[in-house]
Amino acid sequence: MASVTYIEHNGTEYVIDVPVGTSVMQGAVQNGVEGIVAECGGGLACATCHCYVDAAWFAKLPAASEAEVQMLDSAANDRKSNSRLSCQINVTDELDGLIVRLPEKQY
Ligand code: FES
Repeated sequence: MASVTYIEHNGTEYVIDVPVGTSVMQGAVQNGVEGIVAECGGGLACATCHCYVDAAWFAKLPAASEAEVQMLDSAANDRKSNSRLSCQINVTDELDGLIVRLPEKQY
């Protein structure tokens, strides 16, 4: 398990133990975090799992694939330098303590 903190746009905070080997998106969806929609179920085809990774953690993540970078262009909310698709972030022991902020809208 790795502890992941999800902070909704309105400030609501969830601290969730997410199983290693699943994704940051799955941790949100399976625990009722409303700011992640994940319409395509992790298929890298919707960009409704957009999140902003806390600056201290962003550099610790493997780089986004070209497909993820392209899909981020479809994100409904502003894309920032720390934008990622949460379905593409695999939870590892090293990510224990990860903090992600969620955009105002996913559509
Ligand atoms: S859930 Fe659709 S791209 Fe992440």
